[in-house]
Amino acid sequence: MIIAVDGPTASGKGTIAKQLAEHFGVPHLDTGLLYRAVGHQVWLDGGDPDNEEDALGACSFPDELLEDPELRSEATGGLASRVSIHPKVRQALFERQRAFATQPGGAVLDGRDIGTVIAPDADVKLFITASVQERARRRWLEMTGRDLEIPLAEIEKDIVRRDARDINRKDAPLKAAPDALIIDTTSFDRDEAIEAAIEAVEAAVSP
Ligand code: DC
Repeated sequence: MIIAVDGPTASGKGTIAKQLAEHFGVPHLDTGLLYRAVGHQVWLDGGDPDNEEDALGACSFPDELLEDPELRSEATGGLASRVSIHPKVRQALFERQRAFATQPGGAVLDGRDIGTVIAPDADVKLFITASVQERARRRWLEMTGRDLEIPLAEIEKDIVRRDARDINRKDAPLKAAPDALIIDTTSFDRDEAIEAAIEAVEAAVSP
């Protein structure tokens, strides 16, 4: 069973995908981490994330980089969004994601284009969303918990900027597949969001 989980930044899609993988006993791939690794590698190389060839060169990042906690930072998220615009970068990361999706026994993948490009044949497609204000509040809480003081208004501005870049890019933009089930988690807490997703998958695969 392939489960595709897409949605904008801080929508809760990562948490939901991880819990779905655990619940249904299938492996999980956070595809955003691949773009984050490319963004961070460009920076390490002293390259320009807006230059397609620099970003393509960074696609051969070493696997250990995926373990680097720096990949989770806001700054790396911004770099990831910039390198993800380039068609050659998306192409370079395609096979790895497709192979993960089609492994025997199935998989859960979360990202922006799983239901539309990586696994249009997925058994279940979820599109997780939440209001900008709520996503900013969640990100702010998470950062405050890590002792990172960034004003809420700044986080909100960054989310709006990142959404616009992800939605408006030409290649594989962030959008719900026509057959995706949309789950708005604005008024849900973590457990409610996970429960809604598990129920949606169960309903979709039940005969
Ligand atoms: O999900 P995330 O915040 O870790 O993703 C970081 C960036 O990577 C996001 O702004 C856009 C890009 N991305 C993408 O273009 N396609 C994916 N499948 C996953 C992430």
